Amino acid sequence: MPLQPPAIASIFPSMEVVLSTQQITKVYQMGEVQVHALRGVDFDLRQGEFLVLLGASGSGKSTLLNILGGLDRPSAGQVFHGKTNLAEATDDELTQFRRQHVGFVFQMYNLIPRLTALENVALVTDVSDHPMDPMRALTLVGLSERADHFPAELSGGEQQRVAIARGIAKQPEILLCDEPTGALDFSTGIMVLEAISQVNRQLGTTTAVITHNASIAQMADRVVRLADGKIIEVTENRTKLSARDIRW
Ligand SMILES: Nc1ncnc2c1ncn2[C@@H]1O[C@H](COP(=O)(O)OP(=O)(O)OP(=O)(O)O)[C@@H](O)[C@H]1O
Ligand SMILES: [Mg+2]
Repeated sequence: MPLQPPAIASIFPSMEVVLSTQQITKVYQMGEVQVHALRGVDFDLRQGEFLVLLGASGSGKSTLLNILGGLDRPSAGQVFHGKTNLAEATDDELTQFRRQHVGFVFQMYNLIPRLTALENVALVTDVSDHPMDPMRALTLVGLSERADHFPAELSGGEQQRVAIARGIAKQPEILLCDEPTGALDFSTGIMVLEAISQVNRQLGTTTAVITHNASIAQMADRVVRLADGKIIEVTENRTKLSARDIRW
């Protein structure tokens, strides 16, 4: 009898769960040594929410995000997207899941130097099922006037916003961001976070953002704290602030 995914979240009965993990562990084998990166994580990502994942370096944040996004599989446990158990999916199925459902934004922007901002975004929309117009994606992150710039002609924050535009242009169900402001100065980071938050609000894209900056938690609907491969706290914000209103 295959395990069934939980249909609804416990706290908000009406809120639909987009991804859920049950008792996932991740063990990396490094020669003789085993690294226990995740030690039994039960976690829901809910439709339309802005979730922030906090935790010290090495606590397992990226490992969890990569498993949620189908970039990796857990060593044990279940990861449900609807009725699909990603923990048991083949490589091809994971690729399909990522292609159809997930947008990623990483610390390093990974833009293609010889393509303009618009072309970098269009690269993704060309292979998507229901993309938005690449120009609209750039407009959403406030960069329509930089569409013809090459990455070298953009600031770091602008490059990261192009990466966000690229991440959302295929209109993914889920946007996963791993330290999107990690390489940026403070005020530029705020602009980038505003762009992500705006996409979440305007498109309703379910969004999870990893960060080292606990202040960012005030922008979130929910905050999940990891320590040593376990979830140690989940909090909900009754009111969430925009990046500009946060006292940093
Ligand atoms: N590919 C890997 N091979 C072996 N060990 C790994 C691998 N990736 C991560 N680890 C280990 O797993 C643990 C969790 O790593 P992870 O990258 O998930 O942490 P993190 O919370 O994202 O940290 P940071 O804030 O520094 O990015 C760490 O101890 C790390 O050294
Ligand atoms: Mg990390």
